[in-house]
Order: sequence, then C-alpha cells, then structure tokens
Amino acid sequence: MASHTMVPGTIAVFIGPPGSGKGTIAEMLEKKEGFHAISAGELLREEISKGTSIGKDIKDTVEKGKLVPPLLIVELMKMETAIMHKKGKKRIIWDGFPRSLEQARATADIKVAAVVCFEVSEEEVVQRLSGRRVCGKGTHTYHTEFLPPQKPGICDHDGTRLRQREDDTPGAIRQRFRVYEDETRPVIEYYRKKKMLHAVNASSTPEEVYESVKKAIRSS
Ligand code: AP5
Ligand code: MG
Repeated sequence: MASHTMVPGTIAVFIGPPGSGKGTIAEMLEKKEGFHAISAGELLREEISKGTSIGKDIKDTVEKGKLVPPLLIVELMKMETAIMHKKGKKRIIWDGFPRSLEQARATADIKVAAVVCFEVSEEEVVQRLSGRRVCGKGTHTYHTEFLPPQKPGICDHDGTRLRQREDDTPGAIRQRFRVYEDETRPVIEYYRKKKMLHAVNASSTPEEVYESVKKAIRSS
C-alpha cells in the first residue's frame, strides 16, 4: 500500500474522534508490542496538572475541547519525540497528532510510516466517554462497563483512585466533535491522498480493534 515502512525510528499516527479508542489501543501496543505512545492530549494535561506557565495558558482551551495553538503542540510533540528517540524508543505512536492541516504540514519533514484512522459512530463514542474513567496520574484508561478495573474505582497499575476527565462534560464533548469534523477530517484526506491511510473499524471489542490496528501497522 504505502511506500513508507514501519521500521525502527518511524512513527505511526492515530487519528479518530474523541473516545474512539486511540489511547486504549496505544496502551495495548505499548504493553504487548513495545511501542511507545506519545499522546498530544496527555502532554497538555500534564502541563496543566503541573501548573506550568504553558499549562495555565491552555487550561481553559483544553477543558472546553478546543485546539491549542498549532505551534505549541507541534513544538511539544517534536521535543518529546526527539527525547524518546534518544532514549532508544524505536517505534513511536503519535496519539491525536496531527489534528489540523497546519500541524500535518509542520511535521511533513518527519517520517510517518502509517496513519491509522479509528472509525466509530458518534452514538457509540458518547456511550464510551460517559463511562470512561482515568487513573489519578491520567495515564491508564478504563470504562465502567467495557473495560472495568479489577477493583471498582481503583487503578490496576498504580492503585490511584479513578476519576473522570475534565473535558468529558457534555459541552466539551460536543465541542471536541465539532473540532474533529472541521479541523481533523481534512487531515484524513491529506494522508489518504498520500496513500498512507489505514481506516480501521473501531466499533468492535478492544481486542478486535487491537488486531486490526496491528495488522494495519504491520502491512506498512
Ligand atoms: P485527547 O486527549 O487526544 O482527546 P480526544 O481526541 O478527544 O480523544 P480521547 O482521549 O477522548 O479518546 P480516545 O480516542 O483516546 O479514546 P479512549 O482510548 O480513551 O485531547 C484532549 C484535548 O487536548 C483536545 O480536546 C485539545 O484541547 C487538546 N489537544 C490534543 N491534541 C491536540 C492537537 N494535536 N492540537 C491541538 N490541541 C490538541 O477510549 C474512550 C473510552 O472508551 C474509554 O473508557 C475506553 O475504556 C473505552 N473503549 C476504548 N475502546 C473501546 C472498545 N473497542 N469498545 C468499548 N469501549 C472502548
Ligand atoms: Mg486519548
């Protein structure tokens, strides 16, 4: 399909609507296949929780579900990717980045091997987001019904109390969908034209989605 190859040192991009399972599948690929995922949203939430000056500037934007300025996120992602490459992380996932044409063009110099687009209905995603819980550190994700922790309300990995994300309110979810349709759909077309896009049915079980994503990445 694509002329790009998922060789060590290259990157797989995950694109999909809010709650489509990008983070969940990235976490599975980290655990089972030794990938390293860089989540754009998680990097930003980290800045917010640490109370850095960047964090203070973007808190309102992120919690309302709007996009932060392109230069800022491009810079953060490039920096984190360089750090991870230096640490020897060979296969990297960009979860939720790029999500505008401006961001895609600003990273055109970096070799992307595959772009996976998570396809799922809005109805399904709303159900997923309403039951989503994250650990106290914000790194592990659960669902009250579909992916429950072993002990209710407690993270299996770090024992912290589970909570809801600040942008999982009905208003912010609606806004995130709007942004996805307006800003991110054109990015899908951008990669489709470059013959790098793998559309994956993300409405089945996490295990089934995981297998489809793995196959998409391997075929690149
Ligand atoms: P971000 O954190 O990336 O949020 P998002 O794109 O809205 O996506 P989510 O993290 O909500 O969903 P997900 O696809 O990871 O689903 P998950 O695996 O958790 O970004 C947040 C904000 O940061 C943005 O709104 C913006 O403000 C800013 N930002 C981020 N990137 C930016 C960028 N590039 N430029 C500018 N600003 C940026 O799954 C959801 C739930 O479903 C979970 O409960 C999970 O357990 C469950 N689940 C997962 N898979 C399945 C399945 N197959 N079946 C049943 N349940 C499932
Ligand atoms: Mg996520």
